[in-house]
Amino acid sequence: RDDKISEETKSLISSLPSSLPSHADSQGMKLCKYQGCWYYPNTLQGVINFQRGFQPQDTDIILASFPKSGTTWLKALTVALFERSNNHSSSDDQHHPLLSDNPHGIVPFLETDMFHESSSPDLAKFSSFPRLFSTHMPFHTLHETLKGSPCKIVYMCRDVKDTLISWWFFRSAIQKIEPDRSMLESLFKSFCNGTMYYGPFWEHVLSYWRGSLEDPKHVLFMRYEKMKAKPYDQIKRLADFLGCPFTKEEEENGSVDGILEFCSLRNLSSLEVNQTRKKKTMDHKNYFRKGEVGDWKNYLTPEMENKIDMIIQERLQGSGLKF
Ligand code: A3P
Repeated sequence: RDDKISEETKSLISSLPSSLPSHADSQGMKLCKYQGCWYYPNTLQGVINFQRGFQPQDTDIILASFPKSGTTWLKALTVALFERSNNHSSSDDQHHPLLSDNPHGIVPFLETDMFHESSSPDLAKFSSFPRLFSTHMPFHTLHETLKGSPCKIVYMCRDVKDTLISWWFFRSAIQKIEPDRSMLESLFKSFCNGTMYYGPFWEHVLSYWRGSLEDPKHVLFMRYEKMKAKPYDQIKRLADFLGCPFTKEEEENGSVDGILEFCSLRNLSSLEVNQTRKKKTMDHKNYFRKGEVGDWKNYLTPEMENKIDMIIQERLQGSGLKF
C-alpha cells in the first residue's frame, strides 16, 4: 500500500509521532500524526500533495466532515442545490447526476481521490461549476492551503457517539464481517484516546467550530441532528450560505421539499446506482444504514457513555460548542 509514498514523505513520517491504533486490522498499519491529526501513510501522502499543489478558485466549495458524520447526505444536498440551475430539480429527471453516480463519485475527496497520487492531478475532467470537493482533513490543514481564497467551506458535525457506532458498522461492512463487540470495544478505545484515522474527534470538530466563528461568511458549521430535526430550515441555511438561495416561487412550488425527499436516505439508498455499484472496491450501499439520531443507545454501555461524555465535556470546555 505504500508504493505511492515518496521518499520525502517516508522521511517525514519517520520524524512524526506514530501509533498502532487499538482497532488495528490484521494489516497492522500504523497511524502518524501530522499537524495534530492522525493519518495512515497513504492518506498523509495525499494531504501533502494537496498542500503542495492545490490551486483554489474563488468559487470552489469544500464539504468537510469527520468520517461517518453525514458526509454523503451533505454531498447529495449540495449537488441537488446546484443542479437547480441545470433544471434538474427532481428524481423524475433522468439526467440528474445523483441518478447515475453516488454522491462520493460526484464530489471527490481532495486527499484520497484527487491528490492521492500526485500534487498536480488533471482537474480538467472535473467540470462541475462551481467545483465541489470534499475532505476529512481538519480545518487548519485545509485552510493553510487555501491561502486567503474566498472559497466556501461547509462542515457537517455529528454526535460523537452516533459517529462511533456508524464507524463500527461501516468498518464491519467493508471487512464483510458481522459487527462484533470486540471491534466496538477497540474502536471505543481509539475514539477515547484520540488515536484513530483523522482523530482526535474533538480536535477535528473544534478546528471547524473555531473557523466558523472567526469567518462565518466562508465557513458554515452544520449539525446532523439539526438537519434531521429541521431539514427545511437547514437546507435553506445551506442554500443561502452557498449563494444559491431558494426563491419565493421555489418555496411555494415545493422544490425545497422535493430536494429533501430526493436526498433522503430512503430515496438515495433505493436508487439502482447505490444498490448495485461500487466506488473503487467500496459498495455504494455501505454509505447508507439507518441515519438515526441516538442509535448509540442500542449499543454503548452506561460506562462507555459516561466516559465519552466526560472526555468530550472536558475537551470542549469553554469553546461554546456542546454535544
Ligand atoms: P448510520 O451509520 O448511523 O446510519 P458518512 O456519509 O459521513 O459516511 O456518514 C454515514 C452516516 O450517514 C450513516 O449513519 C448513514 O446511514 C447516514 N446517511 C447516509 N445518507 C444519508 C441521508 N441521505 N440522510 C441521512 N443520513 C444519511
